[in-house]
Amino acid sequence: MSVATTELTGRHFLKEIDFTRPELLHLVDLAAELKAAKRAGTETPRLAGREIALIFEKSSTRTRCAFEVGAFDQGAHVTYLDPTGSQLGHKESIADTAQVLGRMFDAIEYRGTAQSDVETLARHAGVPVYNGLSSEWHPTQMLADLLTMREHTGKPFDELAYAFVGDGRYNMGRSLLVTGAIMGCDVRLITPPQLRPPQDVIALAHELAAASGARITISDDVADVRGVDVVHTDVWVSMGESHDVWLQRATLLTPYQVNAALMARTGNPDVAFMHCLPAFHDTQTVIGREIAAATGISGGLEVTDEVFRSPASIVFDQAENRLHTIKAVLVATLS
Ligand code: CP
Ligand code: NVA
Repeated sequence: MSVATTELTGRHFLKEIDFTRPELLHLVDLAAELKAAKRAGTETPRLAGREIALIFEKSSTRTRCAFEVGAFDQGAHVTYLDPTGSQLGHKESIADTAQVLGRMFDAIEYRGTAQSDVETLARHAGVPVYNGLSSEWHPTQMLADLLTMREHTGKPFDELAYAFVGDGRYNMGRSLLVTGAIMGCDVRLITPPQLRPPQDVIALAHELAAASGARITISDDVADVRGVDVVHTDVWVSMGESHDVWLQRATLLTPYQVNAALMARTGNPDVAFMHCLPAFHDTQTVIGREIAAATGISGGLEVTDEVFRSPASIVFDQAENRLHTIKAVLVATLS
C-alpha cells in the first residue's frame, strides 16, 4: 500500500491516530530512504526556504536536535523558543501565539504538558503542528521506534511482538500500546494495576486492534514478556510530575525493572532492549544519584546498567532514528 507524499502535505501530527496504518508505514519507509540518502551523501533538500518554529516548554536533547538537524539537512530554517524565552503561557495565550507564529512560520513543533495545549495550537495556527511530546502522547518517537524495530528484526509489523514494561499511564506506554494496535503488532503492556492507561485509551487500542489484527495484552505479570522481539521501558517519573512521587513510584515499579532476568524471561536469545531516553541506568546523573541513594536501588532504576550496555540494547540506533523519522514528517507534510 503506497501513500502519495502529497496526501500528507499540510497535515498535523498531534497523536498516533492522526495517521492511518498506510500513512505511518509510508513515513517509516520515507525515513529509511532519507537515512540511506544521508549516509550515501545523496540527500536532496526539499524544504528550501521553509521556516519552522520549535517551542519547548520542557527540556529535550533528541527531539530538538532531530528537528534542527532534519530541517537544516533539508534546507529549512528553525527558530527555537525555550521555556522562558517567549510570551507564551505567562503573557500570551496558546491560541494567540498560534496565530502569530502561523503568520511567520510554515510549521510549528510544540513540546508541552497537556495534550489539549498542542491541539489548541493546531486549531489556531493555520500551519502544520507537530507534537514533540505531551504527557499523553509522543508520536514522533513512535516513528523512530517503528523504524528501529523493523531494522533490527527485519520483520513486517504484523509479525512483530514487543512489550512495554513500566509506567503504563504516561506518554511512552500509551503511545506504544496504540501504535502497535494501529500497525497490527503483538503488544504487551506490562504495568502495575495502579499505572494502567485510562479506560478510553485501552478501549481505543482494542478497537484499532480489531481493525488491524493486532494482539493486545495488558497485564501486571512480567512473565508476559515471553516470546517478544523487543522489550521497551521508560523512566519511572516523567517530566512534569512531582519529584515527591519518586520513592512511591520506585517501590511500585521495582518488580518491573528491566534487568537480565527479565530479558531472559522472553526466552528469545535475540531479544532487543529499547528506551526512548534519557534513562536512569547508572549514577552518572544528578537525579540518578539522588534516587539511587534514596531508594537503595543500585546499578540502574528502570533498566540495569548491565542491560543498557549489553549487545541487546539498541537505544542509540533508536535515538539516531529520531532524526531520520522527524525529517520524514517534515518532508511529507511540508514539501
Ligand atoms: N526521547 C526523547 O524525546 O528525548 P528528548 O527528551 O531528549 O527529546
Ligand atoms: N516519559 C518521559 C519521556 C521522555 C522522552 C517523559 O515524559 O519525561
